[in-house]
Amino acid sequence: MDNRVYIFDTTLRDGEQVPGCQLNTVEKIQVAKQLEVLGVDVIEAGFPVSSPGDFNSVVEISKAVTWPTICALTRAVEKDIDVAADALKFAKRKRIHTGIGTSDSHIKYKFNSNREEIIERAVKAVKYAKRYVEDVEFYAEDAGRTDNDYLARVVEAVIKAGATVVNIPDTNGYCLPADFGAKIKYLFEHVDGIEKAIISTHCHNDLGMATANTMAGVLNGARQVEVTINGIGERAGNTSLEEIAMIIKCHHDLDLTTNINTQKIYPTSRMVSSLMNMPVQPNKAVVGRNAFAHSSGIHQDGVLKNKSTYEIMDPHDVGIDDNAIVLTARSGRAAMKYRLGVLGYDKFTPEQVDAIYAKFLNLADKKKEINDDDLLILAGVDTKESHHIKLEYLQVVSGVNVRQVASIGISISGEQFEAAASGNGPVDASINALKKIINRKMTLKEMTIQSISKGSDDVCKVHVQVEHDGILYYGFCANTDIVAATVEAYIDCINKFVAKKEK
Ligand code: KIV
Ligand code: ZN
Repeated sequence: MDNRVYIFDTTLRDGEQVPGCQLNTVEKIQVAKQLEVLGVDVIEAGFPVSSPGDFNSVVEISKAVTWPTICALTRAVEKDIDVAADALKFAKRKRIHTGIGTSDSHIKYKFNSNREEIIERAVKAVKYAKRYVEDVEFYAEDAGRTDNDYLARVVEAVIKAGATVVNIPDTNGYCLPADFGAKIKYLFEHVDGIEKAIISTHCHNDLGMATANTMAGVLNGARQVEVTINGIGERAGNTSLEEIAMIIKCHHDLDLTTNINTQKIYPTSRMVSSLMNMPVQPNKAVVGRNAFAHSSGIHQDGVLKNKSTYEIMDPHDVGIDDNAIVLTARSGRAAMKYRLGVLGYDKFTPEQVDAIYAKFLNLADKKKEINDDDLLILAGVDTKESHHIKLEYLQVVSGVNVRQVASIGISISGEQFEAAASGNGPVDASINALKKIINRKMTLKEMTIQSISKGSDDVCKVHVQVEHDGILYYGFCANTDIVAATVEAYIDCINKFVAKKEK
């Protein structure tokens, strides 16, 4: 069997379904180009029939990217397939990914159908997609809970109909690794003509087994893996690209290869995290802040004597560059631009570089050293420019044994408003003052504050969730001042629901 494992990245489709982390088309193109640099084989760029935005992203990514195959998702519905084919018209290599639920629960409750009819619909969809493209992938949704015998019949039928790749998703992240591996093995032993297609895994992480299940699939013959950067995705997410790529790189004994340039893993992880405003947990395998940080005395001693005692992979192999140039207020525009280029941001116009450099100098006044995460935040698309509601000033009195009060000034479409309020702390006082001006029913549901690196002068990132009219809105801001960042993140949410109402 071929030892090449194809990497199918679905960060921009399944990954992007994380509530509050949607990207605009410009940001998606940026990620797609970085995925190309990373060396992925397939980029699933969207679900074109689902919205004009998704359609447009597939069109623009198809134009922007050269080597990877661009894939568009559909249901087993002719209209979806027509729209996907249209969205893919500029792709140099294109694939339609169509499919239908095959578990008894999907057949009965989702489709009110029966097993034979589902096979017919699957075959019909593959044949229909083949009229547009040669490369057709079929997914058997909820394959993880589909009876193996029936799944084998579905897989055999779609391969006969022309599917070039067959995806076996563990949609609900339910399978145990041994069972998922056995499922793939069963298919190889029972499907006539299985050698004509590539078998793909698509595992979700609901029980924390996505990577283990994916590897079990590969060890039993799957040669495509569907993954996302940082393992992002709905609920507990999808299999992480970086984990699979590094397992295959570190385990020479498996005799498997991928096309991934592993040194691009870390910059790609930072880019996705920054654009999606989605923090990476510090202990995340391969890309977490602590993934290579040894803090116990025994470990530090061992690593200093010989790295291999406790390090199974070299941080440089995933692109962690501890010789990174430290940028300070004295650094010039060229140094900043160079570092942005290393991080994958190399397409700025001179005017954009000037604007980022101005923000850079501003931050460098408050913070001695500017690190990669700071730069990514500075370089991120400044969505606040188009906001109706802007924070003009914030003054807070806080401390121990004092009354915590805040006064705030905001502008709404250019008109100035001011208010003051007290609270049980500086954040509470500031939000109370803000609510005196924006008199709507809104509740802060969640707030996370995360420092970027270390030091009391660090930039902190604040994510908030605010409920309004039964809907959750996600807001984000980064600032050296925690209270200001929180208030700005809150205002980010308000701008979102105001914009929604205006549509
Ligand atoms: O999880 C899943 O089953 C999917 C399919 C649409 C491929 O994302
Ligand atoms: Zn999925």
